[in-house]
Amino acid sequence: MKLYIDTANLGEIEQINEWGILSGVTTNPSLMAKEGEVFEEVIEKITSLVDGPISAEVEEGDAQSMIEEGRKLSSIHPNVVVKIPFGPEGLKAIGALSREGIDTNCTLIFSVNQGLLAMAAGARYISPFVGRLDDIGHRGMELVEDLHQIILEYGFDTEIIAASIRHADHVKEAALAGADIATIPHKVLVQMLKHPLTDQGIASFNADGKEMKRKHE
Ligand code: G3P
Repeated sequence: MKLYIDTANLGEIEQINEWGILSGVTTNPSLMAKEGEVFEEVIEKITSLVDGPISAEVEEGDAQSMIEEGRKLSSIHPNVVVKIPFGPEGLKAIGALSREGIDTNCTLIFSVNQGLLAMAAGARYISPFVGRLDDIGHRGMELVEDLHQIILEYGFDTEIIAASIRHADHVKEAALAGADIATIPHKVLVQMLKHPLTDQGIASFNADGKEMKRKHE
């Protein structure tokens, strides 16, 4: 499973990218709004930081407006993936952009049937929102499991991006459920580093190593 960061914050992207583990970046309008910068400029800067798919979301509207905005976003850099909110107009836009060779990521997927429609329309990626399903009492990861089974069974050329990841266990569960990608907030990527036994182990190895050096001085 590939790891993406789910943020529009350049500092967060730079920091995590230095670990050498990032395969891509996803953004959404809410993440963009937090940064308060010009959308297209932020996307361009992200493409210069990370060499992988960068999802940039169009404003929901009729198919034509999303197609036109999608074409503009795609012209920023070949790695830009046009993120399209799910819906009938979104399906039309996904179809049109995919016929032009532009990769799309269909977002706000909350059911298997929505995923099936997005894949049939030609979405290169689909983004089931795990955390938001958990929030309303469902088991969000079940959607990832089901979509994975369907892709295996029918051979759709679509990758699953497990999105709305809220904690480190979601990442492990996404990998076990068959997600191709998990897009992870900065805070959760940092949580993934942590284990108390690692900290204790480093402390005792360091102490023993210093003691050994001291004895041989
Ligand atoms: O980028 C889409 C998704 O990851 C949003 O997550 O936490 O706002 O539900 P969240």
